[in-house]
Amino acid sequence: MNFSLTTDQKSLLPVLGIATSVTLLYTTYRLLTPSPYKKIPIPGSRYPYVGHMFSLGSHPGDTIAAWHKDLGPIINIRMGVQDWILIDDPFLAHKVFVTNGAETSYRPHNVYGHDYHNVGGKGVSFSQPDGHWKVTRAAAKDLVARLLESTKTNGSVDPFVDLELYAMNVIVTTAFCKRYDTVTNADFIKLTKVTEQTNINCAVENDLSNFLPIVSLYDYFFGKQAYQKQFVENERNPFLRRLIEEARQEEGSNIVKSFAEDGFELTNDQELGIIADMLVGGNDTTSVTLCWNIAIMCNHPEIQQKVASEIDTFIERNGRTPTFKERDQVPYCIAVMKESMRYRTTTTFGLAHTSKNDLCVDGYLIPKNANIISSMESMHMNPTVYHQPTVFNPDRYLNSQKTMQASANGKIEDRDHFNFGWGRRICPAIYLAETEMFMAFIELFSTCFIEPIDNQMPNLQDKLSGGLTVFPKGYQVKFIKRA
Ligand code: HEM
Repeated sequence: MNFSLTTDQKSLLPVLGIATSVTLLYTTYRLLTPSPYKKIPIPGSRYPYVGHMFSLGSHPGDTIAAWHKDLGPIINIRMGVQDWILIDDPFLAHKVFVTNGAETSYRPHNVYGHDYHNVGGKGVSFSQPDGHWKVTRAAAKDLVARLLESTKTNGSVDPFVDLELYAMNVIVTTAFCKRYDTVTNADFIKLTKVTEQTNINCAVENDLSNFLPIVSLYDYFFGKQAYQKQFVENERNPFLRRLIEEARQEEGSNIVKSFAEDGFELTNDQELGIIADMLVGGNDTTSVTLCWNIAIMCNHPEIQQKVASEIDTFIERNGRTPTFKERDQVPYCIAVMKESMRYRTTTTFGLAHTSKNDLCVDGYLIPKNANIISSMESMHMNPTVYHQPTVFNPDRYLNSQKTMQASANGKIEDRDHFNFGWGRRICPAIYLAETEMFMAFIELFSTCFIEPIDNQMPNLQDKLSGGLTVFPKGYQVKFIKRA
């Protein structure tokens, strides 16, 4: 074998020599010069190339919470080639996402979320509509009637699918002027499949191609991405396009028609992206939150009694149940709903943000393009933020009667919980979600009492990951009509 160098290669030698010396000097300088930034701790158990990908366990929220407990309010994990900066201190999170919102309001590229779910980034968040009152109220009454009926017929009920129907009906009524009467309706079943699938695919911890670029080609043709692409292009999009076309022909007003009526010149893909955002953003989140609430209330009959007696007092005075505008007259109910969302978070991580530039906050360097994530679950169990966080105690919110919408957009000191995210990318539908939850809650506890089956309380400790959302383990309860 001939190892002699060509003239061209020889001429490169001094350049290579200089480059090597500069690299060595720079490395030595970096090693000897203390960094001006505080070190962001990295938890143990990571592996070459894949980093922490296989260390998150079946419920990443618990693992991350344990790491925060050991290492503090900000940690850095490696997901393949990506850096994730996780924060569980609300004050630090506020500085990162709100004070520096201009920098950190970007979304990192998520293969499924951006390329497929949002039809190549065409989805935009919608502003929450007012005037949802009548739709929501009728749907809440229907929900409770179904839960009572199922209990009567079957002895008990797993409420989740009825809660999904309730949440879905609020969205499809607004978007398409439609409603589904039963959980066996074929379009309803298809829509729940779309939302479940999207929630799993869009979860920050499921973005394999971005973690490990080396597998992205395989993934695109044969792996999960191939399946996701097939699902969105062949199943989801034709189905949603049909619903959009049907909505255009409907008599009443709906969001699809309002796009054109209000002068928005949207392409078909943009329209599809927005509708997909509404359906996915608005379904599981609300139904999972209510599902936890019912499980928690079944475990706390004494709290159910207090809630029922507060609503009864209102009814005695006014001859009807309270509206959302009269929420200040049922402060204990509001406190229970807020505590329920704190005690069992709706999403483990919400949606990731990213920063276009390096960012220095509180002495920490957050590198550009890192995924910046609020560890919601850990934050809600942070004892420096909430006294005795593992105790379900609605009294902690008796002096926090602002709407969740006002609280989420107000001063950090006044925030009730962090389920709706942060800054410029905060959930645009907080008001809708909280109205919807309020209606279901009031209708439920003004009408029934929730009881366990054979003293088997719903399990509050086991959490199942639904991708973006965190579910309670399936349970059965009885809805008993109050005298
Ligand atoms: C309990 C109910 C809900 C919870 C806990 C929730 C939570 C969240 C969270 C954590 C985010 C990410 C915020 C961030 O990036 O910092 C978000 C964004 C979003 N949510 Fe919600 N959400 C709920 C209900 C809804 C409903 C009912 C809809 C629609 C009908 C909806 C539509 C959206 C949309 C479109 C975005 C994306 C906003 C953007 O990227 O700018 N959400 N939500």
